[in-house]
Amino acid sequence: MSSEIYKTEDLIAEDIDAYLEKHQHKTMLRFITCGSVDDGKSTLIGRLLYDSKMIFEDQLAALETDSKKVGTQGQEIDFALLVDGLAAEREQGITIDVAYRFFATENRKFIVADCPGHEQYTRNMVTGASTADLAVILVDARKGVLVQTRRHSFLCQKLGIRNIVLAVNKMDLIDYDQDKYDTIVADYAAFADEIGITDFTAMPISGFKGDNITAPSANTPWYKGPPLVAHLEAVEINAAHDAELPLSMPVQWVNRPNLDFRGFSGLIATGAVKPGDPVRVLPSGKTSTVKSITTFDGDLDEAQAGQSVTICLDDEVDCSRGDVIAAADAPPEVSDQFEATIVWLDDEAMLPGRAYQMKLASQTVSATIAEPKYEINVNTLEHLAAKTLDLNAIGVAEVTTDKPVIFEPYSENRALGGFILIDKISNRTVGAGMLHFSLRRAQNVHWQPTAVTREEHASLKNQKPLVLWFTGLSGSGKSTIANEVEKALNLMNRHTFLLDGDNVRHGLNKDLGFTDADRIENIRRIGEVTKLMADAGLIVLTAFISPFRAERQMVRDMLPDGEFIEIFVDTPLEVAEERDVKGLYKKARDGQLKNFTGIDSPYEPPENADITVNTVEMSPAEAAEFIVRKITPLK
Ligand code: ADX
Repeated sequence: MSSEIYKTEDLIAEDIDAYLEKHQHKTMLRFITCGSVDDGKSTLIGRLLYDSKMIFEDQLAALETDSKKVGTQGQEIDFALLVDGLAAEREQGITIDVAYRFFATENRKFIVADCPGHEQYTRNMVTGASTADLAVILVDARKGVLVQTRRHSFLCQKLGIRNIVLAVNKMDLIDYDQDKYDTIVADYAAFADEIGITDFTAMPISGFKGDNITAPSANTPWYKGPPLVAHLEAVEINAAHDAELPLSMPVQWVNRPNLDFRGFSGLIATGAVKPGDPVRVLPSGKTSTVKSITTFDGDLDEAQAGQSVTICLDDEVDCSRGDVIAAADAPPEVSDQFEATIVWLDDEAMLPGRAYQMKLASQTVSATIAEPKYEINVNTLEHLAAKTLDLNAIGVAEVTTDKPVIFEPYSENRALGGFILIDKISNRTVGAGMLHFSLRRAQNVHWQPTAVTREEHASLKNQKPLVLWFTGLSGSGKSTIANEVEKALNLMNRHTFLLDGDNVRHGLNKDLGFTDADRIENIRRIGEVTKLMADAGLIVLTAFISPFRAERQMVRDMLPDGEFIEIFVDTPLEVAEERDVKGLYKKARDGQLKNFTGIDSPYEPPENADITVNTVEMSPAEAAEFIVRKITPLK
């Protein structure tokens, strides 16, 4: 979202050099403000911007006119108008997205993310909070601690925000009553303790009147703490805190401009580093010593958390993007199974078992999430049983990755413990997560190398493994055609095996039904079996509806390049329904069969099938012949 303030920031910097010189040595504090629609969040931010003199006169003039027109607060300036920059927002009277704003005081620079308060905006809040050093939790002094105060605090705690300010706002409306203030703070303290917030700073303020914002207010002589801005200027920022931890730097890229130079570039997540320091490169575990630390402006004697640098090592150790350079004696863990808290950010619910792309620091892997252990009711903090997570839901679940990842618990290292989940097909960010710990079974189950290799299995059979993956609607002709293809391959002395939907569902998968989640699990298991059979040197034919692109892609990804042949048995729904070999379409139409593919359960046709057969134009025998011709000569 753009805001007028953000744009005029460029104008303020008319003399850009002088401006940068003035600000560049200051530390930067990122904070978020949480509160509900009428807690006065926007007014408070407007006040902060106004008092730090980061507003241009022309903008001020516009604001004064607007206040007269729309403002609810008489002739005084309505600071909320300043912040709720978008016209649509003004009309709606509610802040709809995360808006980042910049301001500076004599001592520090600030980026503030204004997060909307409603529950349906949990994802916006998560976005704003994941990088924040501090959160200002606003409470309306007339209302005290509300459900949303609890929700926001819980999220801030989960997201690892170490500095919490409880700003009891609108003190002017309760006549700066100390008793009422004390009651609110005591209420909050009890709740904070319950969720593990061990420390917070409370202050009585009025964003509207300006009490305890930049200077101590004469209206609250009983309040001995600092005004808000002084507190924001003094609080320890994350980078300073993180610099105290052992070194970790996720490698973003390998910098190799010529043969004489090889450096590893990245942002130092935690700790500090000096030339001569012993380091360990993960996941390989190889150790080396830091030779030099290079930046755009030359070499450094030392660098620490928050700085982007290029590290050169003494030895030629292998290290590539996604690896982590860490303190030799305190390296992060490496695992492929975790427990994590997951916040779901997509309109489409999470699908347990589906392979999502997971990005953690500079690592990208494929990850599946099990059925949640529980979902957390963000208002009451109760643990609820859940099969999935819907938009804005938060839950705890086990996550399995296809490759080991280098991580630290999120509570100790946000950079190496936080991740996002991306849908592989749509490329949307669908979830965010915080790793708790690795599951011990991951460390205790090792891959056992076998003496007879995959190649030897195949060569004994005089063939190359292949997977012919038939997909299409029920009744499209998958099984019939796959059978014909298998017969033809057998006549060619090929070793084959056909896995068929109805048959597998009688045995291996008899516990599964036809919900989306069950179908995903169905294909996951079949994918594993298919892979084992291909490892044994067989040509595997599978005939499953396999309605989702993501799972077909997952099986493709499990196999060596070129071994997975996706065959789309393209039969229009009307034709399959007309044939209705098993009478299931009729049952589905009559409402006796739920979740039937093509009727009330989706089918995603392949976008780039390796082979497509149209069963309206071809008989099963012709289709089979067509396929055999396409895949031969077989090796
Ligand atoms: S998949 O969607 O999970 O890939 P699969 O191929 O194993 O499905 O099983 C499909 C077969 O199960 C169909 O050919 C049909 O005979 C039977 N079946 C029973 N109920 C359903 C249903 N609700 N939707 C689709 N097929 C069903």
